[in-house]
Parts: sequence; structure tokens; C-alpha cells
Amino acid sequence: MKTTSTQTEARAEQPEPKHSGREKTPWWKNSIVYQVYPRSFLDTNGDGTGDLKGITAKADYLDDLGVKTLWLSPFFTSPMADFGYDISNFIDVDPIFGSLADFDELLKTMHSKDIKVVLDIVPNHSSDEHEWFQRSLRREEPYADYYVWADPKGFNDSGNPIPPNNWLCLFRGSAWTWREERSQFYYHSFHRKQPDLNFRNPLVQEEMKNVFKFWLDRGVDGVRVDGLKHLFQVEDQNLDEPVIDWAGFNNLHYTSLMHPFTEDQPETFEVLRDWRKMMDTYPNKLIMTEAYNEDIRDVMKYYGNDTDPLADFPFNFRLIEKLQNRSDVTGTRLKNIIDEWFDNLPEGKWPNWVLGNHDQIRVASRVGTDLVDALNMLTLLLPGTPVTYYGEEIGMQDVYISWEDTKDPWGYNFGPDHYREHSRDPCRTPMQWDATANAGFSKGPSTWLPVNDNYKTLNVKAQLEARESHLKVYKTLARLRQENSFAKGKLAFSVVTDEVLAFIRYLEDEPTYLVVLNLSANDVVVNLHHHANLELPPDASVITRSVSDKSEENSPGSKVNLSALTLVRGEGLVLQLPFVEE
Ligand code: GLC
Repeated sequence: MKTTSTQTEARAEQPEPKHSGREKTPWWKNSIVYQVYPRSFLDTNGDGTGDLKGITAKADYLDDLGVKTLWLSPFFTSPMADFGYDISNFIDVDPIFGSLADFDELLKTMHSKDIKVVLDIVPNHSSDEHEWFQRSLRREEPYADYYVWADPKGFNDSGNPIPPNNWLCLFRGSAWTWREERSQFYYHSFHRKQPDLNFRNPLVQEEMKNVFKFWLDRGVDGVRVDGLKHLFQVEDQNLDEPVIDWAGFNNLHYTSLMHPFTEDQPETFEVLRDWRKMMDTYPNKLIMTEAYNEDIRDVMKYYGNDTDPLADFPFNFRLIEKLQNRSDVTGTRLKNIIDEWFDNLPEGKWPNWVLGNHDQIRVASRVGTDLVDALNMLTLLLPGTPVTYYGEEIGMQDVYISWEDTKDPWGYNFGPDHYREHSRDPCRTPMQWDATANAGFSKGPSTWLPVNDNYKTLNVKAQLEARESHLKVYKTLARLRQENSFAKGKLAFSVVTDEVLAFIRYLEDEPTYLVVLNLSANDVVVNLHHHANLELPPDASVITRSVSDKSEENSPGSKVNLSALTLVRGEGLVLQLPFVEE
């Protein structure tokens, strides 16, 4: 087979980085990372909220799905102001989720199935109910400087203290909250019940390393580091951040400011380096980091480089940020998104692809249900680690949540007229297991967030029983990506138009696969030979296809003509090309 050499292809062949504590081909490279939001996976005690036992009970499901890495959103002790991301004890399990013994059982069960377990570590802040904060409030040593405290800039006419600067929190409003006990403000990047820890204090750094170690010693395989870019602020608290949108600023929107003084400070990378070193004293631990940055170079910094390794990967949120609605999804745009990552990827580093998470509109609702399979084909079959948010494998959608049912503080802070623009509740609803009450998620009378009304038809059981379903496509993809052509093979783009994106994955002496995605909102007939920038055989056989295609001609196992390929809107097709003599 003749192929065009692309930069992408060249990168796939680069040598692996070598440093202590890690293998040449670490486990996470060929693994799918599956994110579980513990409140919403499976409730075993009928209180309407998911628990650790529920996750353990689904180990066979994950195994059957072909998932080899499980990332758990926080289950630590928490007053739940931000549903577990406000932690009052970093080294214990919140009773709503179970106990440490339940966690050990979960870990043992997953490991027995060769599934790795990755925890969400939230270093940036604790809950204001954490003992450290309570003692800091009383200026008890050594806790007095555990958080970021500031004196008021002055007092207004009514005698109220004025915050030291204009910094805003992500959840709306000033990032400074006044505490009478200390006559000072404390800083919080997120909710006021999530005071930022002071990472300029070496004791805080030590405390957090001990949190990592506590879980690593218990046997976890890696971490997802939450909100890393917020770890440091400049020391000079007199500096205001530049306003870029006054209307937004008056409405106290975080996005109305630029954030040169509160995000991505250089010290963040020193701390990450320190964690990397510590994690490398254990064998083969994974570090994934969370950072939403507009400039790709800022994202890439979190990788470090060959001689200075930092995260194994910062999440690639480009498929979320740049695909906000159906019309954003074109072949050309997808190709640009993919190229942007590969072109900026530091040497020897590994890509990853994320379609959604617990903070974002679900991909099926964001861009359209017709694209569910095609986008899973893309993320599971490109070189790199795909990250699947629970339910994406069955095409789960967002749920309308009324103001009365709203739980997310981010939505709540914007009031009844605007909460829907910010609330993350719609993407956090219970997993849809079957057609019984509460979608089989809970036997209790109610669930913490409502179950999607579509659960009677859209659920795991129905999709396991159906001849073709999103779930079955997903399982086929998970199995395919273990084959050498995907696991070790190269990538080349064959067709790139607004309508169609087609790429091949190949390796010498291994089958060659062609993935064709019709990203347009219309059914199309494409002549791949006409557009292809590399030689293609006349026909190929169908391995799997989007469920929306019910045609006989494209059914799995059939031979299709690459000069006249009929694809329904949003359809993806995975084809195997016949072996061709050079
Ligand atoms: C991260 C989490 C988000 C949480 C925030 C504060 O962005 O993904 O859910 O609210 O950090 O911890």
C-alpha cells in the first residue's frame, strides 16, 4: 500500500522517552480511560446516590466493554458543596459512597480484571470544613498560612471590607470571601466553600504529597489532577486582572477577565515536577492533568519534555472546546484539531482525546446524536488514549433540570434566569442500565438528579440485546484498538473535506483499516478515489458502522465499493482493506 507521509505519521514513529519509574510502553497508552462520576453510576443502598459498591458491582461491565483504566471522580469526605470536589478529608471515603474497606474491595476487584484505577486528586483547594481551614481561621500554627489570606484594601462607606483586588472566582463573583474571625479575606478560585490552599507554604506541599502517597501506597495506579492551573497566584495582591468584557465583569463572570495573575503561574510546574518525581518512585504511575487553555502552547507545557517529564498527558479538550454544536463538526475542522495536537506535541509524548466529562454538555447533546458512533470511532481509533465519560458508550444525552431540581453551585449562583447556561447537572444524571424504575440505577424512591426520560429505550441492557447498537459499536472499537494496526500502527489521512474525513491505520504485515466519517448533516454518496490523496483499492469490507445506517449494503461483513460509498448523515464506517501486493 502506498501512503503519503504526513507529520502525524512521522510522530507516531518517534522513540519512546526513557526515565526511571516508567516502562517503554506504559499500560495507559493502549488503554481506554473510562471516567465514572461516583454519584451517578450505581446506587446499591437505595439512597438515590451512587456508591463505591455500585462501581465494584459493575467491574464485569467495564471488563466486557474493553475498558482497562477506570478514573473515579472524587469520593472523599465532603460537605458536597461542589459534589465531592470540596474535600474535608483527603484520605477517607465519604459515608455516602461507603468506606475505605469498600474502596479496597473496589481496587482489588478491578485489579483482578486487569483494570487500573486512577483517582481524582484535588490539590488546589479543600473544603472550608476541612480541619486545616478551621485551624487556619483561628491562626493556629502551623496552619495559619495553609490558605491564601489577604487584608482588605479598605472599607466602604457602610464599613464593609473591600477585597484586595478584582479577582473573580469561576463560580461567579469575587474570589475573595471575608472571615470576621481573622479580619481577613481568603482566596477561592472556585466556590466560596473551596478555599485555595497556599502552595507557597512548603508544609502545604508536603501535606499534598502525603495525600498522593496515601493512595499510591494503597495501590492506585495514577491520578487525574484537578484544576491544576489555579494552583498559584502572583504574590502581589494589589494587582488587578485586566477586564476584557465590562458587561460580563459587572455580572461577575470569570470569563470577563484575563487571568495573568491567577492562572498557569511558573511555580505550578515546579510543583508538578515534584509530584512526577515522587510518583516515579512507584512503578508506572499515570498523571493526567486538567487545564482548559486557549493557547495550545500553554496546554502543552503540562507535558514537560523528554528530559523534564511532567504529566503523562494534560487532557486534550479541543474536541469539546471547538465542537460546540452540530455545524462545528466538519472533516476539515476535525483534521485541524487533530493536526494542532500532533504538531504541538512535545517529542516522545503521547496524545489523548476527550469528548466529554462531568463539567461539559454531553457530546450527544452538544453536537448531535447522529454523530455518537462516528466520534467514538475517531477517538478510539486515532493513535492516543481516549477518555470516555460514563454513558458515552451508549450515547447518553443531557437531561433538562428545572431550577427547583438544580444542584450544581455553578448553575445555582446564576439564578433562575441564567442557571441553565452554567449548570453541569444535565450531564451528571444517573447511568441508564435498563428499562426498570430509575433505569436500574437505584432501587430507592428517588435519585439525586432525575433520570433521563429516554431510559426505557436508551439503556445498556437494550443495547446489549440489540443486533447493532452504540454499545456494540463501542465494544468492537475497543477490541480493534488492541490490534497491532491500531496499537502500534501508523496514521495517514486519506480524505479531508468538510463533509468527509477518512484515515487509515496500518502496519507492515498487519491488516490495513480505513475509517470513513460522514460529518455532514446529509446522507451522501462519496467517491473516495476521487478525493483520496493516497492510493486505495476498489473495495473494502465493513467491520462496523453507525447504528443509524440500516442498509443491507453497508452491514458488517459486506463488501463496499469505495468509488460509491453511501453514508447516512453523521455516519462512521470502519473498513478493512484487502491486502495489496506492493
Ligand atoms: C475541576 C472539576 C470541577 C470542579 C472544579 C473545582 O474543574 O472538574 O468539576 O468543580 O475543578 O474542584
